[in-house]
Amino acid sequence: MSDEEIHRGLEDIVVGETNLSYIDGQQGELVIGGYPLSELATNATFEETLFLLYNDDLPTEAELEDFSSELAQYRSVPEGTMDVVRAAAVAESSPMDTLRMATASLSLDMDGEEPHRDTLVLVSRLPTIVAAYWRLRDGDEPVAPREDLSHAANYLYMLTGEEPDPAEVRGLETYLNTVVDHGFNASTFTGRTIVSTDSDLYSAVTGAIGALKGPLHGGAPGPVLDMLLEIQASGDVEGYIRETLESGERLMGFGHRVYEVRDPRAEVLSTAAETFYEAGGDSAFFELAMAVEDASVDLLAEYKPGLNLETNVEFYTAVLLHGAGIPKALFTPTFAIARAGGWTAHCLQQLDDNRLIRPRASYVGERDRTWTPLEDRQ
Ligand code: COA
Repeated sequence: MSDEEIHRGLEDIVVGETNLSYIDGQQGELVIGGYPLSELATNATFEETLFLLYNDDLPTEAELEDFSSELAQYRSVPEGTMDVVRAAAVAESSPMDTLRMATASLSLDMDGEEPHRDTLVLVSRLPTIVAAYWRLRDGDEPVAPREDLSHAANYLYMLTGEEPDPAEVRGLETYLNTVVDHGFNASTFTGRTIVSTDSDLYSAVTGAIGALKGPLHGGAPGPVLDMLLEIQASGDVEGYIRETLESGERLMGFGHRVYEVRDPRAEVLSTAAETFYEAGGDSAFFELAMAVEDASVDLLAEYKPGLNLETNVEFYTAVLLHGAGIPKALFTPTFAIARAGGWTAHCLQQLDDNRLIRPRASYVGERDRTWTPLEDRQ
C-alpha cells in the first residue's frame, strides 16, 4: 500500500470556486446566486433563476423578455431526436435512459461550438424530450411545444396537451428553482470534468444525466411517493415506519451526506406544497405527509440515536410534484430539467477559467512482472 493520503469520493475536497450556490450543511443554509433559497425559490420564475445563474444578476423586464423568447425558440427538437425518443418508447427504455440517449442526439442539428447558445438549446429541449417520451409510452402522439408559454407551463402543457392551472405552474417553478444548483454534486462535477477537456456542452449534459440517474444521486422521490401512498391506504403511520426501521431498511426522504439539520430545500418545498394543496381545497395528502414526517423524525431518533437523521429534499419533492401533476416516473427527469440550469452555468464557468480536471490515483498493483508468451501461460 502507498502512504499517499487518499480522499475517497473526493469527500470534503475543495477543487474550485463558484458563485452559483453556497451550502452550509451545519446551519441548513442554501444560497443561490447570492439569494437565500427561500427568497428566490418562491418569488422567481425559472427563467429569472436561469438568467441569474448565467449573468450573476436578476434581469430587468426587457432583459427577461429577450431571454425568455431566446430560450423558447429552441424548444422543438430535430426529427432524429424524436426518432430516438420513439425507439426508446418502443423498447420501454427507462425515462432517464431515454433522456440520456435523446440529449446526446441534440448535436444532430447543432455543432457544439457556441457554448452560450448550446446552453440555451439544452435547457430549452430537455422538457420536450421528457414530455414526448411520456406521451409515446402511453400510446399518445407528442404535443408540439408552444413558445408563448413559460418554461414550466410549456412542460406541463406538453405532458397533457392542456394549458396548466397557474397554481400547478407556480408549484413546479418553485421546485425547479429549489433544485437548480447545489455545489459540486456528482452530476455537476461530471459536466465540469467533460468540458474541462475542451469537449462540448452536449457531451457534458449527456454525461451529467448519466450521473444523475444513479439511485445515490437523483432517484429517491419515487420511493417516497410509494411510501406515502402505502401509508395512506393502510392509515397506519407509526406501524409502517416502525416496520421499515425494524427490518433494517432506510426511510426514503430522510438523512443527507451534507446536511446535519433539516434540508433547507425541504423547508421551502413543504411551504410550497402546503400553499398548493390549500389552494386546491384538499389538504388531506399534505397533512398525511406532515404526520409521516413528524413520526419519522421521532422514530429515526429512537432507532438511530445520535445520527440527527432529518428530512431531505426528496420528501416534499414527492408531495409537491405529485400535486402538480408530474407522474412519479418523471420525478428524476424533472430533476434533470431543473438541474440542467446548474449544469450549464457550471460548464460556462469552467470554460471561463479552464484547467483540465485530472486527479491522480495511488497505484497499488505490481511493477516488475516478466512477460509470459501465450503458449506458456497456465
Ligand atoms: N433511514 C434509516 N437509517 C438511515 C437513513 C434513513 N433514511 N439514512 C441514514 N441512515 C443510517 C444508516 O443506516 C447508518 O446507520 P448505522 O450506522 O446504524 O448503520 C447511518 O445512518 C449512516 O448512514 P450512511 O449511509 O453512512 O450515511 P450517508 O451520509 O452516506 O447517507 C443518504 C446519506 C442520503 C444516502 C442516506 O441518508 C439515505 O440513504 N437516505 C435515504 C434515501 C434518500 O432519501 N436519499 C435522498 C438523498 S437527498
